[in-house]
Amino acid sequence: MSSMPSPLNPPAKAVVDGTAPDLGLPAQACLFAGALDPCTIVIFGASGDLTSRKLMPALYNLFLSQAWPQPCGVVGVARTPWRREEFQNKMHAAVASQKNYDPQKWQEFAQGLAYFAIDYESLAAFQGLRAFLEELDARQGTAGNRLFYLAVPPSLYQTIGQQLGQVGLAQEQTGGQGWARIVVEKPFGRDLASAVALNATLHQSFQEQQIFRIDHYMAKETVQNILICRFANAIFEPLWNRNFIDRVGIIAAEKIGVEHRAGFYEQAGVLRDMFQNHMMQLLALIAMEPPARFVAEQVRDEKVKSFRSLKPLGGPDLAANLVLGQYGPGVIDGANVPGYRQEPGVSPASLTPTFAAMRLFIDNWRWRGVPFYLASGKRLPQKLTQLIIHFKEVPHSLFDMIGLEAIAPNRLILGIQPEEKITLTFQTKNPGATVCLREVTMDFHYYQNYHGPIMDAYEKTLIDVMQGDQMLFWRQDGVEVCWSFFSPVIEACESCAIPEEFIHSYAAGTWGPTTAQTMMNRLAAL
Ligand code: BG6
Repeated sequence: MSSMPSPLNPPAKAVVDGTAPDLGLPAQACLFAGALDPCTIVIFGASGDLTSRKLMPALYNLFLSQAWPQPCGVVGVARTPWRREEFQNKMHAAVASQKNYDPQKWQEFAQGLAYFAIDYESLAAFQGLRAFLEELDARQGTAGNRLFYLAVPPSLYQTIGQQLGQVGLAQEQTGGQGWARIVVEKPFGRDLASAVALNATLHQSFQEQQIFRIDHYMAKETVQNILICRFANAIFEPLWNRNFIDRVGIIAAEKIGVEHRAGFYEQAGVLRDMFQNHMMQLLALIAMEPPARFVAEQVRDEKVKSFRSLKPLGGPDLAANLVLGQYGPGVIDGANVPGYRQEPGVSPASLTPTFAAMRLFIDNWRWRGVPFYLASGKRLPQKLTQLIIHFKEVPHSLFDMIGLEAIAPNRLILGIQPEEKITLTFQTKNPGATVCLREVTMDFHYYQNYHGPIMDAYEKTLIDVMQGDQMLFWRQDGVEVCWSFFSPVIEACESCAIPEEFIHSYAAGTWGPTTAQTMMNRLAAL
């Protein structure tokens, strides 16, 4: 895929393509190694969007790739009074358009799909669910291992957690079998107090190691690769600090608008939806210290330490460090699109931000004084997730015919999506008798020389939960530190006497409000 030129992604002037021999393990072994315990995957919210868009395709792909427990059952649970066949038909529709759809394999997979209609408020219904699961265990040999996936609105997390506890479904057996794990999707609360309360409720029934707080950004291949890039290569780490890095940019731009999610988004806004979670994870991967070992607790310890070093954002400086925006009508890919306030379900007077650009500082030995620019928004001109390390400029130009300002500093760009690549920009000489410099790039495409299968973020996440590996999941202390940072900021914005002063309008299809342009230019390269 070639780079799409934009103000944030200027066209490369020349490309030096590095190729490297593939020294890894055979592709299948990299994809998945080991065995999975037999288990039942119980999806709450089985009639919802997340189940058909993400979870079912991911489960079907795992089934095809053989990263699949033997035996394994999948139980859809929702309020909708479906029969088993109706559930299977709905799930079939979700999978049948996939490239790798195979009718024969689907039939085999579908045999393991069951459905249980539930009233979430009813304890008797959960007792019925328990009996249903026990009966399945006896029939399928799934050994009492259960993965509970909450693909429901956050308002149901506490109810379901409590009900599972009450009927004994959170209880683990001893001796490695009979495990019970619960997967919770973000948002984990809407501020510090509600996150603490949610956690307290889940902990009444589940131990911390049973709770998997999912953030699908962490399971993206290229996001996982950031730590490998930093810590499996000797050349980056000596430069990875305030002595050599001028600033860091992190952008997660989306072309899509709020779509049909106004009910959720009106209450959330971009700071709760993208910053408190995904953006903080990306920041931690750049900012954290190397753990002694690549194991879940040590990696998560280091991330939390970097969150703890965030300099509080607030007080009189808030407006200088944070710009919020909301998209108005505009044009995307040549088509007119409505503004946020015209979207179905959105209040015509809504002050919910759909864009934010902020400047943060991490007050520790490594990063003191280095600004981190973060931006994310909906209805921007392109889908683009990138982390950009801007190195310092050379201290002195020895080419007396050109000034220092003509020598662009090096940048290391970690492309997450749509292009999965790492790019290093550097200066070279133009051919000819005069000294003319130009910026060129050295590019590594993530799938270069790789012909094996690929695993998407939800597949990876499901495997990790089945293996009990917490590495790519939020730990509660991290959630709380990030809320401690964001809650006062959000409160200050929401309680501002003239909120319009904080929320600037931008036309859909542009790179955010004009007020944010200086920050956006610092974030990228301009
Ligand atoms: C979700 C947010 O967590 O991430 C959405 O709730 C957002 O608003 C999505 O669109 C972006 O994810 P991705 O993987 O498409 O970058």
